[in-house]
Amino acid sequence: MKSELTNGSGISNKIALLLVEGARVPVRKRSTDDWIEGEIVAKRPLENGKQEFYIHYIDYNKRLDEWVSDDQLDVNKIKLPQTKNSRPVSPTAMLNKVSRKRKIEDTNGYSSSHSANSDTDDSPTIVPPIVPAGPPSTGSLSQNQNTYDGLTRIKNVQQIEMGKARMTPWYFSPYPQELCNLPVIYICEFCLKYLKSSNCLKRHKLKCKLYHPPGNEIYRKNNISVFEIDGRKNKNYAQNLCLLAKLFLDHKTLYYDTDPFLFYVMTEYDQFGLHMVGYFSKEKESSEDYNVACILTLPCHQKKGYGRLLIEFSYLLSQVEGKLGSPEKPLSDLGLLSYRSYWSNAVLEALIQYLDSPTESPPSLTILELCDRLCMKKEDVISTLQHLNLIHYYKGQYIICLSNEIIDQHRKSMFRRKVRIDEKYLQWQPKDWSKRGKW
Ligand code: ACO
Ligand code: ZN
Repeated sequence: MKSELTNGSGISNKIALLLVEGARVPVRKRSTDDWIEGEIVAKRPLENGKQEFYIHYIDYNKRLDEWVSDDQLDVNKIKLPQTKNSRPVSPTAMLNKVSRKRKIEDTNGYSSSHSANSDTDDSPTIVPPIVPAGPPSTGSLSQNQNTYDGLTRIKNVQQIEMGKARMTPWYFSPYPQELCNLPVIYICEFCLKYLKSSNCLKRHKLKCKLYHPPGNEIYRKNNISVFEIDGRKNKNYAQNLCLLAKLFLDHKTLYYDTDPFLFYVMTEYDQFGLHMVGYFSKEKESSEDYNVACILTLPCHQKKGYGRLLIEFSYLLSQVEGKLGSPEKPLSDLGLLSYRSYWSNAVLEALIQYLDSPTESPPSLTILELCDRLCMKKEDVISTLQHLNLIHYYKGQYIICLSNEIIDQHRKSMFRRKVRIDEKYLQWQPKDWSKRGKW
């Protein structure tokens, strides 16, 4: 009997036709060897005639999305896409679709304004300015969301090198296409300019006189500093920062204009300079009282407490402004973990401090008073009290109950936190942006 035709990959052509964009199939994840249901986002031919599939693992964060080979797919369990939009398409049709999308975006100002920083060209970086989050503005990428979506679901940058660290991006970021084809993009750790090779970076460093972020250093204690950068005055830096941040931030709409934002960059000092560890952005005027638009710790510095320090710093600014603040929603999974941790500690600390020296007997502290002490919005305080399971119904009213066990746990966890933001070291006056004609 004649055997069924196969493509170069060993799977039959019939099956290959079922492996379309939107189809779901169990995938063996190389890092864990587990079979996880994945959705095919895209596919591409390889030189050896095989194909690779870009997989999103269902119920997992998109930063785990990856290219896999067909031998990692359980082709006996393919589920075809159900919706009209994700109708099966042939591989060629799909590739055409992708390149058409690319063209549509180009007409919206992408590749035309994208210039890779060449060997000789050290002129200011011109990139499409993007700002995570913020008020609707003209130039919002969301206007092109439909055409933009497909392409931006796929990670486009292989690796970045910044200072001593190499980092693998988590998400799409609109770096110039010619740089995305390279194995590594080199980023000047001080001005955040992106370059195509280590030689270009070396040459750039001869000219780049920065050894810290631009803007004003508004906080310094020991080796930790924070710089305030105005998105209007330092547009190149702000745009490069957004481009970099986008590699690790996925859930926010992006906007072109950096003018309405301030950027607070946290650095760690050593003999070679003040090296960025993370940052948060903040709208100059927020109608919703957001005190953080986007927050990021560079992956090479994550899980060392900088995220918490940045959050603590954002609330210190709110305190000086005399406002209650809250981070812009939605929070990412890691954002929620970090805020939950900060809020829980802050609320417990305030309650314990109050109990140590109550102003009334029996002690009585309302939720609104807690909000004022912590500069936190009511909904964040209430959700934290609920998360900690501290609210109880007693004799017709809600009361906050703190057990000795919780107090002990909290003291132990605070003991581990050696580095805290110290308000004495902040040198900063808030500006009233509403009184200014222009940001
Ligand atoms: N897994 C489990 N817990 C984690 C993880 C993780 N990967 N990362 C942080 N946490 C927990 C920590 O255990 C810690 O809790 P603890 O203090 O109770 O031990 C808490 O979160 C804070 O940890 P930090 O070390 O201070 O946080 P980090 O420096 O890693 O930064 C951040 C946290 C900023 C969210 C970082 O993960 C990041 O940049 N992520 C990518 C960008 C992002 O998602 N930003 C938030 C978007 S929401 C918004 O912008 C408003
Ligand atoms: Zn530089």
